[in-house]
Amino acid sequence: MAAITMNHIVKKYGDGFPAVNDISIDVADGEFMILVGPSGCGKSTLLRMIVGLEDITSGDMMIGDRRVNDLAPRDRNLAMVFQNYALYPHLTVYENIAFPLRLAKVPDDELDKLVRDAASTLELDEHLDRKPGNLSGGQRQRVAMGRAIVRQSDAFLFDEPLSNLDAKLRGQMRTEIARLQKRLGITTVYVTHDQTEAMTLGDRVAVLKRGVLQQLATPRELYENPGNLFVAGFIGSPPMNFLPATVKGSTVELPFGSVEIPAEKAEAAAGHGLLIAGIRPEHFEDASVASSSGRTGSTFSTKVDAVEWLGNETYAYIPFEAPDEVRAQLQQLEKDLDGEGLRTQLVVSLDGSSRIAEGQDAEIWVDGRRIHLFDPSTGENLTVDHEHAGRILGAEVDSGKA
Ligand SMILES: Nc1ncnc2c1ncn2[C@@H]1O[C@H](COP(=O)(O)OP(=O)(O)OP(=O)(O)O)[C@@H](O)[C@H]1O
Ligand SMILES: [Mg+2]
Repeated sequence: MAAITMNHIVKKYGDGFPAVNDISIDVADGEFMILVGPSGCGKSTLLRMIVGLEDITSGDMMIGDRRVNDLAPRDRNLAMVFQNYALYPHLTVYENIAFPLRLAKVPDDELDKLVRDAASTLELDEHLDRKPGNLSGGQRQRVAMGRAIVRQSDAFLFDEPLSNLDAKLRGQMRTEIARLQKRLGITTVYVTHDQTEAMTLGDRVAVLKRGVLQQLATPRELYENPGNLFVAGFIGSPPMNFLPATVKGSTVELPFGSVEIPAEKAEAAAGHGLLIAGIRPEHFEDASVASSSGRTGSTFSTKVDAVEWLGNETYAYIPFEAPDEVRAQLQQLEKDLDGEGLRTQLVVSLDGSSRIAEGQDAEIWVDGRRIHLFDPSTGENLTVDHEHAGRILGAEVDSGKA
């Protein structure tokens, strides 16, 4: 096993386009690192440079304490699991797992032990004589991982390994990969464009946008302290709401009314003029539910456009107007996120017991302590808690971890 250190890695393809632009990430020995971002942000390119399938334009790629920029893939001792598992259909599960050992001319008895150990870890013992074509997607995935395990590689690299599977199996495999990685303790770099996978699998997550690292932090840090609008909009489902906002004293004025915010947030955002407020759906509540559970804070009264009752929770949709300056930034954000158009409605997630109904005026409570305030021109989160935000693009303060 080994740590993987990327130092100022740049990749320019033939046309000069920087697909990866000065990225530095340190993956600790045994760590599960996620590379996440929308299509085309450079995730696969970065992964392929780690394995050696793509030349590095500049920067240093270190595995353990070896600089591997000029090493051939086979000399890097890494195992890559691709989107399509690349299993040999005419070989049994046993021979598929054994394949790299046969190539390396490992003696039969040693080979047999390695294959059977891996198969038992992966709960594939019963399937060793079967052909991949007769296995489920999840089983095939495990065979591919078995092949990686027997090689006793220093690290596992995954490029969207679950994207071909249906939603249910994807969920199962996600849990399985997480469990295996913990058990084996193998350094892992995992590429996905799915924020749920990123949140559930990773020890830390690197969020990329157009070849540039935006933030490198734990899932909780990303969720609670996104460094900029892009990260805030990318992480979380349903996504964070963005609203035009102005700070006056210790209150922030939103399209629906004024909300009290903590003094340090108001201070951090003072003097910036028109801002974008970010509020997650679950930081709203039906005011009557909030008051009965003793929560104090600001409430506002508004007309609810649509309501979806799911039993355990209720989504309510509340349209709002945004000035041009904010609209332009939100439009750009949607483009960056590969989104489906401008979100000019508030999505709030209320308790399932709420009786709020469509077309009626409702009293909504909002948790002012959880509001983020973003600079509309730079997208920077002015109210971020740098102590708990990992490493943020362009920020001088650093948690020291990354
Ligand atoms: N062989 C190539 N030649 C030129 N440009 C390339 C090549 N491969 C990738 N690119 C460009 O590099 C950028 C990053 O591509 P990459 O495949 O790393 O993205 P990705 O984040 O993995 O996206 P996806 O989620 O769609 O797989 C893209 O803009 C892409 O067009
Ligand atoms: Mg890719």
